[in-house]
Amino acid sequence: HFHAEPLDVSFPHDGPFGKWDTAQLQRGYVVYKEVCSACHSLKYVAFRDLADLGYTEAEVQALAAEWQVPGIDPRTGETVMRAAEPTDYFPSPYPNDVAAAAANNNAIPPDLSLMTKARHGGAPYVYSLLTGYEDPATYSHDGERLLEAYPDFEVPTGLYFNPYFPNLNLAMAPPLTTTGQVTYEDGTEATIAQMSKDVSAFLSWTAEPTMDDRKQTGWPVLGFVLFATILAYLSKKQIWAAVK
Ligand code: HEM
Repeated sequence: HFHAEPLDVSFPHDGPFGKWDTAQLQRGYVVYKEVCSACHSLKYVAFRDLADLGYTEAEVQALAAEWQVPGIDPRTGETVMRAAEPTDYFPSPYPNDVAAAAANNNAIPPDLSLMTKARHGGAPYVYSLLTGYEDPATYSHDGERLLEAYPDFEVPTGLYFNPYFPNLNLAMAPPLTTTGQVTYEDGTEATIAQMSKDVSAFLSWTAEPTMDDRKQTGWPVLGFVLFATILAYLSKKQIWAAVK
């Protein structure tokens, strides 16, 4: 019961009127590329999808070309790395799960495409996890100190204490540790909180790239339903008007 609920953090895309903040998604992409992609794949996202973030076709092409993906050499049939194209999907940082586990103290970094849908708490959970690494010695929950309740509590070697992770200890070292760890082109200061928020927003987009359309479709539909209801009511009045 020492595990903490996600922080109450809000995003521009929250709620029925919420929309993606494309500047934020672009910053989140930078964080994913510069930091998270060293260990986490994004296998359900193709480079062409980045057009949603407000990039032109030429910009998407250029962004894709910054990544290397496995391809086949037509002469030898061997796998060789080549620059990615818009139709390619984001590559996995490891050749297979064994290599992934070997590099991460036996834990496989999960694919992040659907992470904000898969975990209780969604984007606020990811934000809380990234900003929530703490010293178990001083950690308390609901006024109760962890070490008073469990004096023998120890963080296993190679794991890191984080109260937002259900197990309390996870195999991911704090990935965002310094202001300015990434460079934002829009001049936003890249604090740990800012980078965490931006990448959490970006991962909300990867999990539901069509959210804007879904929310935008709802309003005309509701308007039509309301109109049809009024029409039905008026028809009923008219049809039965002569019957008293
Ligand atoms: C797990 C996000 C960077 C290694 C996770 C989880 C999330 C996440 C959401 C899943 C937690 C859960 O299962 O509920 C991120 C983000 C990153 C980032 C947004 C960039 C800002 C990294 C880096 C590494 C890494 C750079 C490797 C050096 C891992 C590992 C796990 C993990 C090994 C599995 C932990 C476990 O199950 O014990 N990460 N991560 N992550 N991440 Fe990251």
